[in-house]
Amino acid sequence: KSIVILISGRGSNMEAIVRAGIPGARIAAVISNRPGAGGLEFARAHGIATAVVDHKSHPDRAGFDQALAECIDAHAPDLVVLAGFMRVLGDGFVRRYEGRLLNIHPSLLPAFPGLHTHRRALETGVKVHGASVHFVTAELDDGPIVIQAAVPVLTGDDEDKLAARVLAQEHLIYPQAVRWFVEDRLELVAGRVSLRDAPA
Ligand code: GRF
Repeated sequence: KSIVILISGRGSNMEAIVRAGIPGARIAAVISNRPGAGGLEFARAHGIATAVVDHKSHPDRAGFDQALAECIDAHAPDLVVLAGFMRVLGDGFVRRYEGRLLNIHPSLLPAFPGLHTHRRALETGVKVHGASVHFVTAELDDGPIVIQAAVPVLTGDDEDKLAARVLAQEHLIYPQAVRWFVEDRLELVAGRVSLRDAPA
């Protein structure tokens, strides 16, 4: 299965997926909307094709989405993975990749959609926090949940400590979700997640 990964920054989730060495997975390209994204370096160093579709060169969302889709489709991926990709994608884009578009969000959805999830978790006083991998639908940080990991919120946590604890889990659950997809076990069926058992 060929995979295109979209990033905006550091790209540690992309790195975790690459390093997982998932049998049957080929990372066809890493695409960033920011030319300076740190993760592009890692991808290049690993011989992965990279591209930048800069949102600043596209005045409106439709134009950006179009340029991004063309860049993605040039690699004809089976799966598109959003890994710290910080642009909201329009309905048309999301529909085009329905069932083959995954995102990771740093909270236990449906709690804390949107930004600053760790700060909000601390402010709210939840004792359990975490991360979710989900299929992308038109609603922001919504969509059928594929896998989640929970971490405790500890006394003395600040945003950075909590973020680091969650990120360590992200690096486990995202490769797992991709592995399931590559193994043809994970599917979106009538808007719901279907996960089949591994063949005996
Ligand atoms: C991750 O916490 C991800 O869940 C969030 O942004 C962060 C990206 O980190 N959406 P990285 O670029 O994968 O290192």
